[in-house]
Amino acid sequence: MTVANEPAGYTRTQILLHWTIAVLIVLQLVIGEDIKPAYRAFSRGTEPATADIFNANIHVYVGLAVLALAIWRFAVRLLRGVPAAPPEESVLLKRIAAATHFLLYLFIFGMPITGALAWYFSFRAMGEIHELGKPVIIIVVGLHTAAALWHHFFVKSDVLVRMLRPSARRAP
Ligand code: HEM
Ligand code: HEM
Repeated sequence: MTVANEPAGYTRTQILLHWTIAVLIVLQLVIGEDIKPAYRAFSRGTEPATADIFNANIHVYVGLAVLALAIWRFAVRLLRGVPAAPPEESVLLKRIAAATHFLLYLFIFGMPITGALAWYFSFRAMGEIHELGKPVIIIVVGLHTAAALWHHFFVKSDVLVRMLRPSARRAP
């Protein structure tokens, strides 16, 4: 069902935020282990090598940038909303999509927060949770990507296109 005044698509800002965050998350997953030598050294109370501090800083600042962008994105979502799922989609698939989006939001907030608690406050348990986040998110992003491609190539809905092409329109 289309709710009156619901956005017909995503804005340019929402789309840019989606893809920028996606690229930064993939980068973080690839370089994630590079922070470990410095983290281990600080945990032992020893001085890390300069190169290890440099690598750690990249992970920390890219991660904090994800948190800032996630806050911005969530605020836009609250203020403007997001388009409804395609009407032809079953209730079950709509629920799976909503649950996946919720998990993705939890992750783009949860990873930087748990990482920061481990890094700045030596909160080891948060470091463990942060590490566990890696395989979980690879599975969730994998499912999310597969669903987007399936929609585009098999269902032939506009779901992927609307995350590429901005629309300022609101549903009538
Ligand atoms: C989107 C944000 C982030 C992602 C996707 C991410 C991802 C990762 C990954 C994949 C690892 C390696 C896990 C492993 O080898 O099993 C890691 C480790 C780590 N990250 Fe992040 N990270 C993010 C943000 C941050 C931030 C903002 C900080 C600190 C301010 C941080 C601090 C750490 C620390 C301290 C470790 C080592 C944990 C340990 O060895 O117990 N991360 N991160
Ligand atoms: C780490 C990577 C990613 C994250 C964190 C992420 C997160 C999200 C979230 C939270 C939404 C819900 C819309 C919103 O509330 O803003 C969304 C929508 C969407 N994402 Fe991603 N995404 C990622 C990667 C990808 C990739 C790789 C693709 C495609 C190949 C993709 C395609 C889409 C599409 C098509 C939508 C729109 C769904 C709809 O309108 O119902 N995403 N994404």
